[in-house]
Amino acid sequence: MKKTLTIILLTIMAGFSARADEGMWLPSLIAQRIADMQEKGFKLDAEDIYSINQASLKDAVVLFGRGCTGELISPEGLLLTNHHCGYSQIQQHSSVENDYLRDGFWAMNREEELPNKGLSVSFLERMEDVTDRILKGYEPGMSEDERVAAVKANSKALIDEVIKEGKGLRATVEALYYGNQYFLFLYRQYDDVRLVGAPPSSIGKFGGDTDNWMWPRHTGDFSMFRIYADKDNNPAPYSKDNVPYKPKKYFRISTAGVQEGDFTFIYGFPGRTREYIHSEGVRYIEEIGDPHKIHLRTLRLDIMSKYQSQSQKVRIQYSSKHADVANAWKKWQGEVKGIRKMKTVQTKQEFEAAFDKWATDGEFDGVIAKIYGLYKELEPYQFAAEYYSETVRAIEIANFASSLYATYKVNKETGEVTFDQKKAADLVEAFYKDWYLPIDKECFAALMTEFDKNIPAEFKCEYFTKQIKKYGSAEKWAEALFNKSIFADQAKVEKFLKAQKSFAKSRKTLLDDPATEFAAEFAKWYASDIYPATSRINQELQLAYRDYMRGQMVYCRTQRVPKVFYPDANLTLRVAYGHIKGYQPADATYYLPSSTIKGIMEKDNPEIFDYNIPQRLRDIYAEKDYGNWTDSTGEVPVCFIATNHTTGGNSGSPVINADGDLIGLNFDRVWEGTMSDIVFDPEICRNISLDVRYVLFIIDKVADADHLIAEMTLVN
Ligand code: ARG
Ligand code: GLU
Repeated sequence: MKKTLTIILLTIMAGFSARADEGMWLPSLIAQRIADMQEKGFKLDAEDIYSINQASLKDAVVLFGRGCTGELISPEGLLLTNHHCGYSQIQQHSSVENDYLRDGFWAMNREEELPNKGLSVSFLERMEDVTDRILKGYEPGMSEDERVAAVKANSKALIDEVIKEGKGLRATVEALYYGNQYFLFLYRQYDDVRLVGAPPSSIGKFGGDTDNWMWPRHTGDFSMFRIYADKDNNPAPYSKDNVPYKPKKYFRISTAGVQEGDFTFIYGFPGRTREYIHSEGVRYIEEIGDPHKIHLRTLRLDIMSKYQSQSQKVRIQYSSKHADVANAWKKWQGEVKGIRKMKTVQTKQEFEAAFDKWATDGEFDGVIAKIYGLYKELEPYQFAAEYYSETVRAIEIANFASSLYATYKVNKETGEVTFDQKKAADLVEAFYKDWYLPIDKECFAALMTEFDKNIPAEFKCEYFTKQIKKYGSAEKWAEALFNKSIFADQAKVEKFLKAQKSFAKSRKTLLDDPATEFAAEFAKWYASDIYPATSRINQELQLAYRDYMRGQMVYCRTQRVPKVFYPDANLTLRVAYGHIKGYQPADATYYLPSSTIKGIMEKDNPEIFDYNIPQRLRDIYAEKDYGNWTDSTGEVPVCFIATNHTTGGNSGSPVINADGDLIGLNFDRVWEGTMSDIVFDPEICRNISLDVRYVLFIIDKVADADHLIAEMTLVN
């Protein structure tokens, strides 16, 4: 099976290699693209990008935390990523007195670098096609359950085997092309990663949610960390004795600047795309899923903003939460717009009709109808599942109640209840630091009202129906729940946890609390009425997609339909290449590809929170005290856009020029192009990057931290 797929892919690529910049390519197979890359300007070879025999660019790229990318920029383990990727770390070290979010933070020496619980980075050691090994024991004709079992057992055996090769190794086996291919990814994970620097939010988050997903952009979205290792350069948990990690490879930084048309290459960890889905899947997203989720989040955002504007404390408490909720909310709006503009549903329907005709009586006969039927069956369950996650799971007090409840463990044999005091204390501290009751309560009322309105009666859980009936409205229900729940009052919770005589009794009390009950009853409903259906149908869909995916490849090759194939993103390392280019967002409007400090000054407004810059920046601008960090017009460059195909997870990814040097830091896309997770439009899909010269300018002129620049290798 592996051979067939590889051969199909190779023939397709040979036929259509000179197409637009769409694609997220596997680094270990980059030799298949290198000719195209070189034709477009790249000067290095495939082995420079990915090699298991010598240090290559991949050794300077890390998966940062749970879903960002970072890159090494000095021989001393200095790492660059986005401000929004380091946001929760910066926030955790902040308080009203020491507000690093507001004022920025710069370690002036190694001692001042701040350790971070729970933050790790992973280097890719190697990746390899392991399809044959993973499917060993599976024969055509066996059931899907048998296949799943074989994949699971073979993956586990392989992972257990490879992680013995060294210290700090972890591995995953990932399905590509819906399980037509399997790849092993072996990582080395470092857990001592310290905060080195971050500009004030008025620079790092300049433009805030107003400018998020937008061009022209002027956000200095970067923060810096340092990886620490034991004295042998191996991963080790945090210790004072750890020393800066010595990377196999780090990026040189180019200060030569960028021009429209220049080759750009992004190396990073894109999270999730669905380029090959059926029209019906797209229709659901466009007409149902996205619009409902957008509406639910509008309600929450309005409530948060209202209280945030009334208090500085609440503004800090909810800054990260607000940004999280707003981010996908805005992305979905662009996605819907883009899918409509591209007429993706219609285009896919036409493709499917032609495919179906071609497929008659062959291996792929009926697969189109099968997928369509499964989507129809899935729809009401999918809708309920999305509502569950956007309403019930958005109630903070309920999430907290269930995680606190989970610190009690029952021994299955003896029935004895134990309690993890340390964990409970940590949870309490972390939760109340950033929780504001009026916001949560108002969200509860608003979201439960929507749940009532939009979830059909036969899909509602009994508990919900009873509560609404009992209280008469979601508002009154909210009033009662937040009045009665012990979790509404930090002091009460702390007293309760301290005064426990019997853990079994306490556990029972918490279980009876209305907030825990709310979470538990809904979770039960989800687990019994919704999840089994979504999971079964999705599994059948996966199976059908496995055929359809292969079918699309065979069809396009044999019928000479021009289409590029690359595996959907799945948070594994990818290469995306393109070039610097402006775009036309609307009639008679053209956006140039780079922005400068002049634009920051045009937006500057002390009255508007998102556009209020530090006085220092105004002074520098007035004096034109720019140092070496200017472009050909004498201004400081800030951001640029290019045609690289990226998605969430690519945040913090290095942007590399034709010589393999760092010119920027990816952090966003233009919102008109966010449908690129489903369909890529070369006319309008643009990724947004921070110009590395702005990073250097801020470190030098605003932070006065040139000891960091001294560590780097600058080239011009
Ligand atoms: N849109 C970017 C991404 O998807 C940046 C998000 C953080 N910034 C913000 N203002 N919410 O992650
Ligand atoms: N900001 C996104 C991230 O966190 C990147 C933007 C996108 O392309 O989705 O990965």
